[in-house]
Order: sequence, then structure tokens, then C-alpha cells
Amino acid sequence: MAGESRGRSYSRNPLHSFIPAKVKNILVVAVGMDGKVETSNQRNHWDKTYQSTSDFFGHEPSEFGMGAMRTFVANGAKKILELGCGQGRDAIHFLKHGMEVAAFDYSETCVNQLMERAKKMGLDKGLTASVSDLRKGIPLPDESVDACFSHMFFTMHLSEKELAFIFNECHRVLKHGGINIYSVRNVNDPHYRKGKHHGEDMWENPMGFVVHFFSLEKVQRLAVGYDLLYTKEFDDPSPPFTKKLYEVVLLKP
Ligand SMILES: C[S@@+](CC[C@H](N)C(=O)[O-])C[C@H]1O[C@@H](n2cnc3c(N)ncnc32)[C@H](O)[C@@H]1O
Repeated sequence: MAGESRGRSYSRNPLHSFIPAKVKNILVVAVGMDGKVETSNQRNHWDKTYQSTSDFFGHEPSEFGMGAMRTFVANGAKKILELGCGQGRDAIHFLKHGMEVAAFDYSETCVNQLMERAKKMGLDKGLTASVSDLRKGIPLPDESVDACFSHMFFTMHLSEKELAFIFNECHRVLKHGGINIYSVRNVNDPHYRKGKHHGEDMWENPMGFVVHFFSLEKVQRLAVGYDLLYTKEFDDPSPPFTKKLYEVVLLKP
């Protein structure tokens, strides 16, 4: 599985060559002593947002999700875990292509919307969609999925300690040779360091969502136990505004 993605070869990405020698001091404001952040407001905010519209990010699959789908096919992946699935624009695409999808989100509204949409399209057989706050762990057995996928989930209101825990959970549930493909907003994004600061590298955007912005050092720090295969910056034009993201591919050896 290692070495192949979207018809091109992976090379071990010499990320360290991009890392500035001077690492910034991190100011911790809203993160508690236990490294946990209070996110119940964010959960309500996502839930209300999804109640007000059935297609917040659109119904079409994201470019990122379509690329990931090609990688799954190229690598023979069949059972996909999606973290922070939202209303399921990418989950539906994976189901259409015959994948089995275990999708999680902490908003009950969007999980219900995804299940209803999949049912209407006759795609619900391959889908398990569950409401779950993933900071508490991933409710799946060890080594039970071929790939983890998430589009803009790790970039949510999650402290680095919580992120490290969830990355470790993904590692636990992935089979050996499985990949973890994720996207996160990065430090070149127009909203980086704008709005209210919520500790670490988290800022509240004009829509009231708290976003965790990733540097390449953070990508590397969070790759514990994985081979970091690939990192690329890309623009995501999906509504409501264009974002600067990193695409990251990790391999569980
Ligand atoms: C930026 S949205 C992306 C949604 C979807 N991946 C997409 O691209 O259409 C992030 C999603 O993560 C979910 N989320 C945030 N924190 C979470 C947590 N701790 N546990 C589970 N889901 C969470 C939100 O409810 C939201 O649906």
C-alpha cells in the first residue's frame, strides 16, 4: 500500500527541511490544565447550523474526498472510517463507489441527515453513522478499518493533547498498512490569527466556529507511530469561503 496515491508515487516527504529553526512559544489561553477544551458551545453551534440548512458544504463531494476515493481504490481499501462526517457529502460518494463507511460526528442533526439521505439513495446498507464525541475515543475494535478519512475534522476546536489522543485512536483501529488521510486548515489561511483567540493555534472565525490551524511542525508532531507519507497545501473553494488546507497522508506500518 505504501508508495502509491492518485496515480503517483509517494516519497518520504523531507518535511523537516521546511521547518523553521525557531519554534514559536505557544500561549495557552482557553485550554485547561488537563489539556482539554470546552466545546459544548461548538457542538450546539454545528448542530444549529445543520438544522438551518441541509447542505452547508454543498451536496457534491469535495475535491479532497474524490481524491481520497481514488487512493482507496488504488490501495484496495474497502472499509472506511470517516471522522467529523458532517452532512455526508464525502461519505455518500464513498458509498456510491461500493465502500463500507463508518461515519461519526458529534452533531445528531447531521448524522440523521446523512442516514436519511443515504436511505433515500438506496446506499444505507454500507453505512453505519453514529453520534459520537470523538474526544472520548473511536467506538470501533482494534485493526478493524482499512483507511481513516477526515476533511476539516482535526482542524476543529481540539487541543493538541486531544488531537494526539484521536490520532492514536485512528492508529489503533487501522489495520497494518492502512492509511489515515486528513485535511486541516493551515497557518497560511486568511483566518489564521484573526478573531477571538481560544488558546494554542485556535481562533474563532467570523461565523463563530473555532478553528485549529496547523503548521508543518504540528503535522509532524502528530504523526507519532505513523509513517508520514505526503503533505501538500491546497485551496478548498467549497462554501462559504476559500480555505488554505494541508492534505496529509499517514501510513500505519
Ligand atoms: C468543518 S466540518 C466538516 C464536515 C465534513 N467533513 C465536510 O467536509 O463536509 C467539521 C465537523 O466535525 C464535527 N466535529 C467537531 N468536533 C467534533 C468532535 N469532538 N467529535 C465529533 N465530531 C466533531 C462537527 O460537528 C462538523 O460536522
